[in-house]
Amino acid sequence: MAERVVGIMGAMPEEVGEVVHLLTDKQEFSMGMRTYYLGKINGVKAVVVFSRWGKVAAATTATALVLKFGVTEIIFTGVAGAINSELSIGDVVVSQRLIQHDLDGRPLMPRYEVPLLGIKYIEATSELQKVTSSAVSALLEKGHLQAVIAPEVLKQFGIEDPKMVQGDIASGDKFFSKTEEKEALLENLPTIQCVEMEGAAVAQVCYEYGVSFVIIRTISDTADEKSHIDFPAFIEKVSNKYSVEMVKGILG
Ligand code: ADE
Repeated sequence: MAERVVGIMGAMPEEVGEVVHLLTDKQEFSMGMRTYYLGKINGVKAVVVFSRWGKVAAATTATALVLKFGVTEIIFTGVAGAINSELSIGDVVVSQRLIQHDLDGRPLMPRYEVPLLGIKYIEATSELQKVTSSAVSALLEKGHLQAVIAPEVLKQFGIEDPKMVQGDIASGDKFFSKTEEKEALLENLPTIQCVEMEGAAVAQVCYEYGVSFVIIRTISDTADEKSHIDFPAFIEKVSNKYSVEMVKGILG
């Protein structure tokens, strides 16, 4: 069996920076405007990289992880806008299925269908979903989260009792900041929990190369008129810490 090599992709440079600190025997490799950090986390071989934003950036980075660094699984950690109205800032979505909400080949094929794959949704690897859900639940337990993020910061973002949900995630090259767009998405894709800009691209690459994957998204905003206000401060103060703890838990 191939040796386990875990690719860890982050959606923000700050998040990757914190995860890079977990690497032992660290080496750096720059290629195609990305820096790949190689080493071990808890004795497991890992490659950590900031993918840049959007589906193309995510797909090229995931492909490099597979072909150049031989990763056997990819964990993507980042933030997302809430589509399900029951999600609050600070909650975490662990991917079940990924779909590209901006993929529309009609009338040649049904809306959302990935050309030539003949499917709309790509399912995350069930074993990784399980391990990740346990790690996220452990992080969100009262006491653990408070030990990692200062109470005044949690209060600033109204994070009281954050929850983990497993569900579907929609990706596309668009930042959602209008209620009407969010509602339109939900009408067409009623099972979607949150939106982001990379996950389904990573899913497609992993599907095509037979690599395991999971996407983890911390809710940073409500994907409506308030989303741009919530976003930068949340990344700086909260999601970095979540990512580090989740990676430690998954590779523990
Ligand atoms: N990532 C975080 N928030 C987002 C939003 N509102 N739209 C798309 N991607 C996001």
